[in-house]
Amino acid sequence: MSHLKQQVGIKAAEFVKDGMIVGLGTGSTAYYFVEEIGRRIKEEGLSITGVTTSSATTAQAKTLGIPLKSIDEVEIVDLTVDGADEVDGHFNGIKGGGGALLMEKVVASNSKDCIWIIDESKLVEQLGAFKLPVEVVQYGAHNLFRQFEEKGYKPSFRMKDGELFVTDQVNYIIDLDLKVITDAEKLAEELDRTVGVVEHGLFISMISKVIVGRPEGPQIIEK
Ligand code: A5P
Repeated sequence: MSHLKQQVGIKAAEFVKDGMIVGLGTGSTAYYFVEEIGRRIKEEGLSITGVTTSSATTAQAKTLGIPLKSIDEVEIVDLTVDGADEVDGHFNGIKGGGGALLMEKVVASNSKDCIWIIDESKLVEQLGAFKLPVEVVQYGAHNLFRQFEEKGYKPSFRMKDGELFVTDQVNYIIDLDLKVITDAEKLAEELDRTVGVVEHGLFISMISKVIVGRPEGPQIIEK
């Protein structure tokens, strides 16, 4: 699987041109994109500014010598390339398996263009088999958890090393085991209205292109 991730990461880097401000995604697929950007800077003299979507990607970009700015230092990001956990036929998706959904969504929503890079196993007919990550403020998180339980959303707190996982923006994540999301837009609106929810991993209409890793080579699907 990792060669498919590498293949799409390298392919996506072809869309990056000199002078761009580039959103650098998070996760094991975006990792290869960031590596390729680092290689092009070093070997081809590519000149870009990166905006990272997590502390993990910041650390990676720094080791590669990619010049960085924070999202607040740029007015707009030209292109963001990121991974995803599931993508449906309407180009909606679930993100946040790595816990970086909030920063990823902020960068994506400040971007002129977004591309997702995935291996073919992540293309689905309907979203929801992957647990939907919901980033929540710590204050009142256990009550929110109970609300999700009552709604039948089968919540679980994201854990790390036996403790509640804390995101880069110092929130918790509650994963919802929904199995099938019949109306992603409606659920997104409901979560947007829920007090204590900072963001959720439903990314609706945010991307123009998906690059799918397949054994026979990368496939670019345009909206
Ligand atoms: C990080 O929080 C996520 O949104 C990732 O972009 C997503 O989980 C995909 O990660 P992988 O490429 O590691 O599967």
